[in-house]
Amino acid sequence: MKIFVAGATGAIGRPLIAQLLDKGHDVVALTRSPERAQTLAQQGVEPAIADVFDADAVKAALTRAQPEVVIEQLTALPKTYTGESMSAAAPFNRRIRLEGGANVLAAAQAGGVRRYLRQSIAFWAVPGSGLAHEETPLAFDASPAVAADVCTVSEIERRLLETPNIEGIALRYGFFYGPGTWFAADGDVAQQVRQQQFPIVGNGSGVWSWVHVEDVAIATVAAAEQGNPGIYLITNDRPLEVRVWLSAYAQWLNAPPPPQISVEDALRIGGADAVYYGTQMRGASNAKAKRELNFQPRSLEWLVDTAVAHAS
Ligand SMILES: NC(=O)c1ccc[n+]([C@@H]2O[C@H](COP(=O)([O-])OP(=O)(O)OC[C@H]3O[C@@H](n4cnc5c(N)ncnc54)[C@H](OP(=O)(O)O)[C@@H]3O)[C@@H](O)[C@H]2O)c1
Repeated sequence: MKIFVAGATGAIGRPLIAQLLDKGHDVVALTRSPERAQTLAQQGVEPAIADVFDADAVKAALTRAQPEVVIEQLTALPKTYTGESMSAAAPFNRRIRLEGGANVLAAAQAGGVRRYLRQSIAFWAVPGSGLAHEETPLAFDASPAVAADVCTVSEIERRLLETPNIEGIALRYGFFYGPGTWFAADGDVAQQVRQQQFPIVGNGSGVWSWVHVEDVAIATVAAAEQGNPGIYLITNDRPLEVRVWLSAYAQWLNAPPPPQISVEDALRIGGADAVYYGTQMRGASNAKAKRELNFQPRSLEWLVDTAVAHAS
């Protein structure tokens, strides 16, 4: 199939492009950078240079490409993962997802694109017992930054799924790990954990769902080829409480054990969002993706055997 990828050079874009080429697809990839366009061309991808905020340029790129499918992986997130850097990036991230994404979606609609897939988020389900499913309500009443992101996510999903004449698929990914992510051994969170700056909050009962970036790429290509319109949670088989994954992660990194701080201290230092992530986050079920996309995610790399496996 001819597939147009927006966000082709990010943490997901890179393995996604490789996976699409591997599966024999004809790929056109959007970037703002002539240098990155050159790299894409060397990989066998047709580059399209445009800024997503330039609606005319995006429309021209899509008209030229004439793709059957569009995959949108646009984000504007920082390389560091702290409360401060995420707050600073939030307006840009919201804008690229809402305005930038709207330009790509409108161009796709005008260009007669059959199917449109978009990156979304697996960890915004309302807190509760058990794992969240695709139909579980989202956490509109969560802490401020989470609630704001829930609004953005629900808006981009609604817009996509209600666009007439396009098969919309929202792919709600878990926390990324693997090359180029915050949680890679050379990533920002690894650095914070080595310096004991990433604590377990309270009893560490927040449940995080994970997914390796290469598994994201595999699931995304499967959804492009054989998914049904709607929502898919793309996460691995084993959502984990913070106290479990963070302790194992520190061990994998050969770092000291993570410090533990009280909910009161976390509220004072990191605010309500830090407490939400640390104690209330709800894990997600990948049952639908396994059933319909034959998704077979790998185990979290730092849990394979923490007694012997260490980050290289
Ligand atoms: N679920 C999760 O855990 C999750 C989700 C998303 C991101 N993250 C984390 O966030 C960090 C950064 O993510 P990332 O690598 O995807 O971000 P990134 O490297 O900033 O990539 C963003 C993508 O969007 C494109 N883009 C951004 N602004 C654009 C614009 N105005 N016009 C056209 N294209 C534009 C970029 O293309 P060009 O720069 O080539 O133009 C790039 O392909 C990573 O550590 C990742 O793990 C985590």
